Amino acid sequence: MFRFKKLAFLFIVASMILVACQPAATAEPAAPAAPAAGLDCAPNCQYSDLVVGFLQTGSEGGWRAANTASFKETAEQLGLTLKFYDSQNDLAKQVAGFHQFNQDPEVNVIVLAALETTGWEDVLQEAKDAGKLVVIEDRRIDAPEDLYVTYIGSDFALEGRKSAEEMCKLLEGMEGKKVWELVGNVGSSAAKDRGQGFREGMGACGIEITNSQTGNWSATEGKQVTEAWLKESQDVQGIFAQNDEMAFGAIEALKEAGLTPGVDVKILSVDATGNAFKAMLAGDLNVTVECNPLLAPQVYEAALKAANGEELPKWVPSQEGVFRADDPNLEEITAGRTY
Ligand code: AHR
Repeated sequence: MFRFKKLAFLFIVASMILVACQPAATAEPAAPAAPAAGLDCAPNCQYSDLVVGFLQTGSEGGWRAANTASFKETAEQLGLTLKFYDSQNDLAKQVAGFHQFNQDPEVNVIVLAALETTGWEDVLQEAKDAGKLVVIEDRRIDAPEDLYVTYIGSDFALEGRKSAEEMCKLLEGMEGKKVWELVGNVGSSAAKDRGQGFREGMGACGIEITNSQTGNWSATEGKQVTEAWLKESQDVQGIFAQNDEMAFGAIEALKEAGLTPGVDVKILSVDATGNAFKAMLAGDLNVTVECNPLLAPQVYEAALKAANGEELPKWVPSQEGVFRADDPNLEEITAGRTY
């Protein structure tokens, strides 16, 4: 009997110790979920709270001018502060500009139009550590997605596939389908993806790329490269210029060599700038595949949403069309263009 009482006593003491060691029951209300990362003004940030540091590539032509104007004009309309940095198409300068914005206490949003796809992890991490929001515009980059808010820009590979499809139509029925490719700045996503997309589509009609070289998005270089090729051979049926500017250079080179662009050699470019429409109306250019530069309203809206802690999709692709010189409504379409 005594032994039983002793065991019962030990059991009760052990139970009390066990209960005392348990974590407190969840009687208290659950802690609120951690707020999504945003700026200090979240969730009521306004455009006027944004100080945007914009790292532009440079000023290589009509497309870039329209892109820059979009950022400057929209900033004024929305009442946000824009600090504009011209990287002058120099990667080292662009990276230096990024560090500068990371260290600028006023800047809370950084917009990057990247000259190259790679090499951004360190500055992006630095921006994140400094509490800056980064939006990628125009040119996609290869970097971990958690280091930036979103990418707003074109599907360049799709532009390349559309270009191949259009070139196939232009060369239909021709015996030879030799095409020269004027490439943009080689490390950029626009050049890489347009080139890849074109190659994916060109097999459908047997296009053969017999020359391919960079013209660095410029009319001058596009002309020089085409001149050099023409000295070697004039056996070419089409030119795929990865932007309008290089096509303008190629057109000049063909004319100076006594050829008729648009007729003797079909010309296709990407961008759809105002000057491309003029060239189509003049019969020099056959097709331009659109790449929309008016991205600022979407970029600033995304920045504001992110400032208020909203999660965004990692890529918002632009909607773009194709314009042809033989479109019976070309004059009307040209009149309605805004860049
Ligand atoms: O990234 C877009 C490209 O950059 C345009 O096609 C070209 O004209 C510009 O420089």
